[in-house]
Amino acid sequence: MKIFKDKVILITGANRGIGRALVKALLDHDVKKVYATCRDLNTLPSFDDNRVIALSLDITDDGQIKTIAAVAGDTEILINNAGILNTGNILDGDLLGMDNDMKVNYFGTIKMMRAFASILKKNRPAKIINIVSIAAYSPLPSIAGYAASKAALYSATQSVRIELAKDGIDVHAVNPGAIDTDMNKGSDWDMPDPDSVAIKILKSVDEGNLDIIPDEMGQGMYNAWREDPSKLSKIFSDLYYAENIG
Ligand SMILES: NC(=O)c1ccc[n+]([C@@H]2O[C@H](COP(=O)([O-])OP(=O)(O)OC[C@H]3O[C@@H](n4cnc5c(N)ncnc54)[C@H](OP(=O)(O)O)[C@@H]3O)[C@@H](O)[C@H]2O)c1
Repeated sequence: MKIFKDKVILITGANRGIGRALVKALLDHDVKKVYATCRDLNTLPSFDDNRVIALSLDITDDGQIKTIAAVAGDTEILINNAGILNTGNILDGDLLGMDNDMKVNYFGTIKMMRAFASILKKNRPAKIINIVSIAAYSPLPSIAGYAASKAALYSATQSVRIELAKDGIDVHAVNPGAIDTDMNKGSDWDMPDPDSVAIKILKSVDEGNLDIIPDEMGQGMYNAWREDPSKLSKIFSDLYYAENIG
């Protein structure tokens, strides 16, 4: 994958799940350096590779973001992967959980893009890769606050894509369906593993795709939405409430 060769990449939430898988996949593709950031460095795998620079970062912490931007001024590709998911529906879900979803998934990612925009302009050709979610299109009622935060992030991603296009910076949106990580612990869905998904994401970025859906479930949901958003609502309605109808 030529896009990543000799590049300096910063990734958030690198300690587990899709973030960890992306670091591993990047190291297999001749990158120069990976700033692997996470909240608690004790949870970061060793990766056993001296191209990995471990940095502590909570994306809701303005001070930490400023420090990271000062340290990682040679970043050429920013991967905003960190995210949280709170369950609950719109009408009676916990508002604090919804607020936290917005604070991390939306505002945290926006803050990272703001902090790194001038760095990426200086280091272009550069990229931002935002790990969003298919929930941006298809709000499952049981994770409605998460879905709203990801819809907001998808919108912000498209806005920044336009803002930065004039500076020669590509902004990619990755919208996966369910992937087998801690985020889906306890789910009995048949899900792809994060390692295979990470490779598909990088391959798709390398091919120049700006909107990426790396898995079958995500693609199916996106196709239903594209045909008619109400079709997706009907699928979820049948799934959740069929037994209560009639
Ligand atoms: N798994 C899926 O089905 C799926 C589908 C679509 C999109 N996504 C998105 O993919 C991304 C990665 O999720 P995942 O599936 O790998 O979930 P995961 O295993 O739960 O990992 C979430 C990562 O985000 C980090 N994080 C959470 N809050 C943070 C904060 N305030 N600052 C910095 N890091 C923070 C976590 O760090 P800690 O270990 O410190 O908590 C962890 O590294 C998320 O944005 C998620 O929304 C996942």
